[in-house]
Amino acid sequence: MIIAVDGPAASGKGTIAKALGRHYALPVLDTGLLYRAVGLAVLKAGGDPDIESDTLAACAFDDETLNDPALRSEAVGSLASRVSVHQAVRDALVKRQRDFATQPGGAILDGRDIGTVIAPDAHAKLFVTASVHVRAQRRYQDALSHGGHPDMDSLIADIQARDTRDMSRDHAPLKVADGADLLDTSDLSIDAAVRQAIALVDAQL
Ligand code: C5P
Repeated sequence: MIIAVDGPAASGKGTIAKALGRHYALPVLDTGLLYRAVGLAVLKAGGDPDIESDTLAACAFDDETLNDPALRSEAVGSLASRVSVHQAVRDALVKRQRDFATQPGGAILDGRDIGTVIAPDAHAKLFVTASVHVRAQRRYQDALSHGGHPDMDSLIADIQARDTRDMSRDHAPLKVADGADLLDTSDLSIDAAVRQAIALVDAQL
């Protein structure tokens, strides 16, 4: 069984994917981490994330890299969004994702193109979304709780820039996959969002 969970930054898709993983006892891959790993490696190598040839060597990271807490920052999220427009980067990451998706017993993957490109034949597909304001608010609370000094206006601007780049790129843009159910988490608690996600997935299986 493969479950695809797509959606924009801070929509709640990661939290929902993990909860679905516990509910259905399936392993979960946060595919955004792969693009973040490439973005961070390009930065460390002194490359330009907007130049495709500068990103190629960065795609050969080992799985251990995915545990690096530095991958979680908003700055690395923006870098990830810049390197992810390159077809060569996307191609380099397809195999890891398909291998994870097709492991015996099944899997859950969350990202931007799981239901459209990585696993178009997934048994269940969700597109998780929320208003820009709610998503920025979540990032704000998250940064505060980690001792940061977030600025709401720049969080909103970052999220909007990332949405625009992810939705308008030529290769595997963020969009609702055929057969996906929409789940708007703007006004939902985490528990309520997870309950709805399980109900939607159960209805698709
Ligand atoms: O989900 P997360 O915020 O960690 O993703 C970081 C960036 O990686 C996204 O803004 C997007 O540009 C890219 N990404 C992607 N395809 C995926 C997952 C993430 O292009 N499947």
